[in-house]
Formats: sequence, structure tokens, C-alpha cells
Amino acid sequence: MPNFHASSLTPLAYPHQEGEVLFMWEATSADESLVLAQLENHQFFIKQIRRPEGLLVKGEKITRPSQVKVLQKGLIAYENASQAAVRFSNIYSTKNHHENPSAHLKPPAFFAETFQETREIWVEVGFGSGRHLLHQAASNPTVLHVGIEIHKPSVEQVLKRIEHEGLENVVVVDYDARILMEFLPANSVGRIFVHFPIPWDKKPHRRVISEGFVEEALRVLKVGGTLELRTDSDAYYAYALDVFMALSQTKVQIQKNMDLAVSSKYEDRWKRMEKNIYDLTLVNQHEHAPTPPPVALVFEAPVDVAALRHKETNATLRGETWFVHVEGWYEINQTQGMLKVAFGAYDRPEHRYVVIDQENAHYFPEEVFSTKANTLAHVALTEWMNR
Ligand SMILES: C[S@@+](CC[C@H](N)C(=O)[O-])C[C@H]1O[C@@H](n2cnc3c(N)ncnc32)[C@H](O)[C@@H]1O
Repeated sequence: MPNFHASSLTPLAYPHQEGEVLFMWEATSADESLVLAQLENHQFFIKQIRRPEGLLVKGEKITRPSQVKVLQKGLIAYENASQAAVRFSNIYSTKNHHENPSAHLKPPAFFAETFQETREIWVEVGFGSGRHLLHQAASNPTVLHVGIEIHKPSVEQVLKRIEHEGLENVVVVDYDARILMEFLPANSVGRIFVHFPIPWDKKPHRRVISEGFVEEALRVLKVGGTLELRTDSDAYYAYALDVFMALSQTKVQIQKNMDLAVSSKYEDRWKRMEKNIYDLTLVNQHEHAPTPPPVALVFEAPVDVAALRHKETNATLRGETWFVHVEGWYEINQTQGMLKVAFGAYDRPEHRYVVIDQENAHYFPEEVFSTKANTLAHVALTEWMNR
């Protein structure tokens, strides 16, 4: 990622406009400073880390813009504005990743804010190399296919193939499927595929299939809609069957060693090893009450900056399914300050700043949506801030 090293920088008087970049304010903690830069519709922090040999200046991770060129322009403008005595510069040595973000890649917020779909919807959890997702999309053009995957290289590779094959009926989400389910409307999905999930024999809490996931899957499935697990793992098959059978009413179909029209990389490997392959299909039989989509969480109570400034800010709050870690305090000026926080579900923490301006607080750089874990964490953080 682009950066430069400087032996000295001249402090800016904020706000400071440098070419097309506006530097709005600076927040300082014990060992770093964050300068808020605005370029077109992007707002991001330029971070200065004090080192014995000088200053390292780079994009801050949580707010880093997805297009590298935006960050590069911000760093060049900052170098000029602060009359940096540059020792060496790596601003242009980075490959331009994500130059054109794909229109097929959607953030979770898309499903909460703008998702209105009249087509049949099928969801694939953990699509990996994407063979099954792309095959289904090409074979079922009237269906919208939602692919969810946490492994970024797989997401990028599949996005390229979607573009290359000109598929218009696929969207991809780079997020934990266990949480993304909470963003989908009730009674809206025809099929959910979970093919060859990681068995996690030693860390069962990381499995995709769980009581909570099945509850959400049944909520989003239409009546007659199916949750389709395909696995080579005897243990995962038995575990999932237990979870499905623990429901008070259940309709489950089991098949063994059935071929599908498309075989994934994993499946090819297991077949070569002559392993059994199980299909376990759970059928939803109930209409669910419509549920509102998650909303952006807001801080309603007034905040006391002076009290927060004197708080011990290295704090961790914990519940069974959620946590909050307050990582530190940044000073902006007399009436403004900022907290750095990680919070939400244990396996998929959200990272944000909470900017406090007079009595008002908001999450930065993006809003936080009211998933179950986020809502509980937000309540605990609000209480901690006002304690
Ligand atoms: C063993 S691979 C199987 C890939 C593909 N379904 C296939 O059959 O070849 C499991 C995939 O699930 C993804 N994955 C694991 N946990 C996930 C989660 N909570 N949400 C979304 N994807 C997940 C992994 O990154 C991995 O790509």
C-alpha cells in the first residue's frame, strides 16, 4: 500500500485545501495522528506514525478507500501541504488493485437499503472457486443468484469470471454468510446452497450450519424453499442432521452419492478418494412474519467529551454472542474527540471510529447495521460511553 517516510512535516491549519483534496481535521493519540482527507465523495484518514527515525505516512486501514488512486492523490496532496521533508516515497510502487470496483460486488448495506427484487432468489454460501454459482447463474437466467464468500481472493476471481461470462443475474457479497442472512428479507429465497462447508471439527462454533443459522435460513426461505447442504464429512453430515432434527417440526431429505450437473474442485478431490458425499436438504414449511431490514445504529443520548477524555479507554465488554473492544482515544480539539472500536460478533468483528462532536457521536467511516450482535454491542458501548 502507498506510503512515504519523512524526517519532518509542517503542521497544517485546518481546514486546508490542497488541490482537489480537503484536509478537514487531525486526531491524535499517544503514538499516531490521523488526518481526515476528503476527495470527491471519499473520506479517509492519512495516518502518521512517529518512529525514532522519523515519520511513516500512509493510508489508515479502516477508512482506506477501495481505489488505490484515491489514496495516492491524498498522500501526494498531504506531502505538498505539509511541506514534507521526504526521505523515501513508495506512493506509486503499489499495483492499482480494485481500479474499477465491480458492479456485481455488493456491500451488506445494499440488502438493508436498496434491495428490491422481483426475481426468484437463490443464495450460495461459501462459493469458493464459484463453479456451482456460475453454473447455476448460466443455467437459470431468470433467477438472481447471491453468492456469499469470506475469502477475498475467491471473491475477486469469481467477479472476473462473472464479467468475462457477461452474467447479469449474479451479485457477490464479501461477508460472513452467518451474519448476512440477517440482511435478507423474510420469505424471499427459493434455495440456499451450502456446499462442502469447512467441517471445523476442532472449532465447531465456526461452522456455517448452527441453530442460529438455520433459524435465519428458515426465516428467509419461502414456503417450500430449501436449505441444501452437500458435504463429504460424515461428522458434519451427522451434526447438521442433529441440528435439523432438533427443530420442533422438520422436513428433511437425505441422499447419498448423487451426482449434480456440476462438480466443484473439492468434490472432484473427494470423488477421487472414493469418499461418500451426502446431500441433506431442509424444506421450509412455514410463512414467516415480515421482518424489517437492519437499520443504521445511532447514538441517541448526548455524549460528554470531557468525561470520555479522562476514561480508561482500553476496555473490553463481553456478552455471549457479542463483544466491544474500545481500543483508544484520539484528541481532535476542546469539543471533539474520537474513539477507535472493534465490536459485534466474535467471528466477524466490525472496526470503526466513533467521532464525537460536542454532544453528538457517529460511527465513521461507515454506518453500523443492526444485526443481532451489533445491536447488543452498540447498547453496551453506549452505556459505557455514558457511565
Ligand atoms: C471447503 S470450501 C468449499 C467451496 C465451494 N463451495 C466448493 O464446493 O468447492 C468452503 C468455502 O466456504 C467459505 N466460508 C467459510 N465460512 C464462511 C462464512 N461464514 N461465510 C461465507 N463463506 C464462508 C470459505 O472461504 C471457503 O471458500
